[in-house]
Amino acid sequence: MCFSARDLTVFYFLILIIAVSCQSESRVELADKLNGHQGCKACHTKEWGEWAESPHAQSWKSDVVQAAFHNFGFSRKCQSCHAPEPVLVTGLNNSPVLRDDSLASGVNCLTCHGLGEGGGVAGAADNSRASCKPVRVAAVSSSNLCGVCHAPIFEDWVGSRYASEGKTCLECHMRNPSTGEFSHRCASLLTSTKYSNSIEMQCFQDHGELIAVITNRGVGHNFPGERHNRTLSVKVIQRDINGDVQAAQKNLIKGITPFRGESTQDKIKIDESVKCRFPIVISEGVIEVTLLLKKFPWLSDEESTVITTTNINL
Ligand code: HEC
Ligand code: HEC
Ligand code: HEC
Ligand code: HEC
Ligand code: HEC
Repeated sequence: MCFSARDLTVFYFLILIIAVSCQSESRVELADKLNGHQGCKACHTKEWGEWAESPHAQSWKSDVVQAAFHNFGFSRKCQSCHAPEPVLVTGLNNSPVLRDDSLASGVNCLTCHGLGEGGGVAGAADNSRASCKPVRVAAVSSSNLCGVCHAPIFEDWVGSRYASEGKTCLECHMRNPSTGEFSHRCASLLTSTKYSNSIEMQCFQDHGELIAVITNRGVGHNFPGERHNRTLSVKVIQRDINGDVQAAQKNLIKGITPFRGESTQDKIKIDESVKCRFPIVISEGVIEVTLLLKKFPWLSDEESTVITTTNINL
């Protein structure tokens, strides 16, 4: 077979078109992968799976959040921390700024790792071989990253013994202390039993009263919550020897009550203990004591999280 000069020109022209279109396709693909939060999923399935189960993935689309936005007239300022531009781009000393796109993904991969257009991602170490081009940015590993949105908790933490011991938000919320393994699940007492030991309850009898002492043993900040919608209460059921209930008592330890307003007195500070007393009405039987955490004050006891329970036999 033989080709004319013209055939060869057409041939090279075709090759050129194919080469250019391949190149532009891979560039588009890469831009997609690196500029969009969705693109992270393909390579980081582990982190993606953990994040998808975390409260951060719900921070825009949860019904509770949407209902609250409705009440506040969908103001951009109000919504800002719930689906922001990358916080490393807006700066950790500035308030987060609401994004214009992909709102449903809430606090997403780029919120914490994004370095803006063409900037790759921020991580704990440089890695020029990885296609997302991670660059070491110390702030990613610091409590300041979390503090930009979790301001009240950050303020509790910053002057605490945990801060001086170097125990950051990440150590308690993203790292498993026994395995050292890292997780994006960002759990709390409401979502994981692994935090149960952080709040201790001791019960004893004293002059015809039951005394429950509740101590903030290991929460790295004041407890409960930061937004004043959590409540902590002690529930006491006294049963006689026949198992019949002789008294059902409940005492709100901390948290907002509808007519009292909000204050920092509504929290148990780091290492602080609070005491509550209940008159004992039975002479024989069992007293069941339960420490309950509610996400919202109006939820029923059945919808609450049981932190711990103790039985005292008389
Ligand atoms: C084409 C595959 C690919 C895509 C897409 C990708 N990454 Fe990566 N990424 C890697 C590889 C490979 C590494 C290095 C090995 C590792 O840590 O898993 C890495 C490492 C990282 C690190 C760790 C840096 C460190 O050591 O601290 C972060 C953070 C990261 N990627 C974030 C992202 C984010 C956010 C996205 C989405 C915008 C993304 N990556 C998209 C492949 C990818
Ligand atoms: C400075 C950042 C910031 C701003 C501004 C902000 N939020 Fe939030 N919001 C948070 C953080 C952080 C949490 C998680 C707190 C927690 O779980 O302890 C949260 C949680 C919530 C929750 C869910 C609580 C839950 O129990 O799941 C609702 C609802 C909510 N915010 C609504 C609003 C509304 C309405 C506004 C505007 C008036 C607003 N937020 C403004 C950061 C912010
Ligand atoms: C709330 C902030 C936040 C969000 C959201 C977030 N990350 Fe991270 N990510 C971190 C922090 C903090 C580290 C730890 C840095 C360090 O090692 O000190 C980290 C570490 C990583 C690492 C490397 C360490 C490892 O072992 O996992 C990868 C990879 C990563 N993130 C990918 C992602 C991807 C993909 C998403 C979205 C699905 C995502 N991150 C969402 C804060 C976040
Ligand atoms: C861009 C803002 C933002 C940043 C940065 C951020 N968070 Fe959050 N975080 C939120 C919002 C908003 C929620 C509430 C989501 C919901 O309940 O709907 C939340 C929820 C949580 C919760 C669950 C609270 C609960 O009641 O169960 C934990 C734990 C948490 N974040 C830890 C962290 C840690 C640790 C970091 C730093 C690595 C961090 N967050 C960074 C906005 C942020
Ligand atoms: C010493 C460990 C420790 C440190 C450090 C720590 N936390 Fe926590 N945190 C906990 C424990 C334990 C809980 C469970 C109590 C609860 O669910 O209220 C918790 C609860 C939370 C909650 C959920 C509160 C709620 O009920 O809405 C958020 C949000 C949170 N932490 C964010 C942070 C942030 C941000 C930092 C860093 C400024 C931080 N934590 C530092 C241990 C820690």
